[in-house]
Amino acid sequence: MQGHGDTVLFVHGFPLDRTMWLPLVSTLSGHMRIAPDLRTVTQPLGEGVRRGMRTLADDLVAVLDGLAVERATVCGLSMGGYVAFEMVRRHADRMKALILCCTRAEADSARGREARDELIELVRTAGTVALVERMLPTLVAPAARETMPQVIEHVEAMIMRNRAAGIVDALTAMKHRVDSTRLLSSIDIPTLVIAGVDDQLIPIESMKAMAAAIPEAQLTLIPDAGHLAPLEQPVVTSRVVSKFLESVR
Ligand code: MLT
Repeated sequence: MQGHGDTVLFVHGFPLDRTMWLPLVSTLSGHMRIAPDLRTVTQPLGEGVRRGMRTLADDLVAVLDGLAVERATVCGLSMGGYVAFEMVRRHADRMKALILCCTRAEADSARGREARDELIELVRTAGTVALVERMLPTLVAPAARETMPQVIEHVEAMIMRNRAAGIVDALTAMKHRVDSTRLLSSIDIPTLVIAGVDDQLIPIESMKAMAAAIPEAQLTLIPDAGHLAPLEQPVVTSRVVSKFLESVR
């Protein structure tokens, strides 16, 4: 935890960890910033893995409780966004505003669920390291491998920090997550949607539709960024987030 003032709770994506927020967190000095690891980084989810997104949302509220934070702006990237939707469902009274970054409201399609099973099998048989090769090219914009070697190195290190059992449970929980499209029209807190223009995992049209369905949402597209806009374009993303946080202060 760092800083003072309004609180922002950052929720990382899969298969990453809290350090994905470092470039952003270090620039938002006027706010209290909390960026925990989700429990799947280091351990399995335990019982009720299919309801894992709810468990992770409840974990985050326990973090807020532990720090005596009544309400926070919740900023979730991708899987972090799925967890943020569960916070909206279960703990809306703890949320001041919402930032949905490179994420989607739809549940997995049938093909998407099959792909989760393939990844689960891959990790069970070949370990975490197999995810680096499989996922890394899809996480960043196509040009990033050439132009941003330090980002690639950071993403690799985050993936390797994830334990195989936690990865399998996170994939299972995402596969079984509920659809949130019908939740969107009921979100009544200020919301910012951030989308990387070159996101290869989540179609930009899906993010545009999500923003359009949330009554108080604004949408910002980040050029030259893929699925990890806060890492790939930290300066631009931080400016956008900072402006939004000022507007909801
Ligand atoms: C993430 O970045 O959190 C994941 O790619 C999301 C997903 O696989 O649906």
